Amino acid sequence: MEELSHRPAGRRADPTVGEAIDRCAAALGAARVHFGHGTDNARDEAAEIVFFAAGIPHARGARAYGRALAPPARRRIARLLRRRIEERMPLPYLTHRAFFAGLELYVDRRVLVPRSPIAELVQQRFAPWIEPRRVRRILDLGTGSGAIALACARAFPRAHVDAVDVSTGALAVCRRNLRALGLQRRVEALRSDLYAAIEGRRYDIIVSNPPYVGARELRGLPPEYRHEPRVGLAAGADGLALVRRILAGARTHLAERGILVVEVGNSESALLRAFPRTGFIWPAFTIGGGGVFLLRDQDI
Ligand SMILES: C[S@@+](CC[C@H](N)C(=O)[O-])C[C@H]1O[C@@H](n2cnc3c(N)ncnc32)[C@H](O)[C@@H]1O
Repeated sequence: MEELSHRPAGRRADPTVGEAIDRCAAALGAARVHFGHGTDNARDEAAEIVFFAAGIPHARGARAYGRALAPPARRRIARLLRRRIEERMPLPYLTHRAFFAGLELYVDRRVLVPRSPIAELVQQRFAPWIEPRRVRRILDLGTGSGAIALACARAFPRAHVDAVDVSTGALAVCRRNLRALGLQRRVEALRSDLYAAIEGRRYDIIVSNPPYVGARELRGLPPEYRHEPRVGLAAGADGLALVRRILAGARTHLAERGILVVEVGNSESALLRAFPRTGFIWPAFTIGGGGVFLLRDQDI
């Protein structure tokens, strides 16, 4: 008996963008990869794979779903999907792009994939904790790709931003991003062990997403995190090695009425045990995430 088919006779039609997204999402789900490097679900990650491979801007959104995918784009999709699944490589290290607070950034394995919930606070210009118009100097401690520093420079057009990192590789990525965004006159990338190279400088905002993963948590992280630089994650037994030093130096480097904003993730409870008398403020997030504290200069 002949097989029943409703397909038009002749050459099989190229799959569409929407169909490719469905297939990629199913493959990612079946492979049980970990999401957390720019997306938090299989469908968004599949859309990034397909849009990147086909060179379609995300601004086109679902309007691009009916477009047919030519063989070269399909081959690129297959390669990306294979490496994402077999190597458990975070997708931004394969595409060399990440999205943060409305910016597109270059990334590679010298930097952590930007994903800090601090993006939301930057986009709100740290309201209501500081008067945005008087912000002139900002410090980003442990800048990595420059994500937070560059987003701050965009959010505060009259401010100068110092972006410091101990890693020369990370600083090379940061400099590439600040040049690409045309922000080299207002963002300075500096090699520094936290405050070491910025003696005497004071800031209206000190912001940091430092390494804060404790030894035990580090051992249990999904394989994707092994591709990220250890210097961006590991922070001693309780995850507070860097945070303690950031707190200790903040008073010397905050301007009057300045604020300190630090991400501590799952080390929040260790922090509260270590500093039971400090009046940490924990902003609420609407997009997602948490584990970020804020302190005013007088409360440090
Ligand atoms: C969690 S990553 C965050 C990167 C970036 N801020 C972001 O949110 O994507 C922490 C960064 O701190 C840097 N770092 C680690 N120890 C440091 C230190 N002692 N002084 C300055 N930077 C440091 C690492 O190289 C890494 O780039």
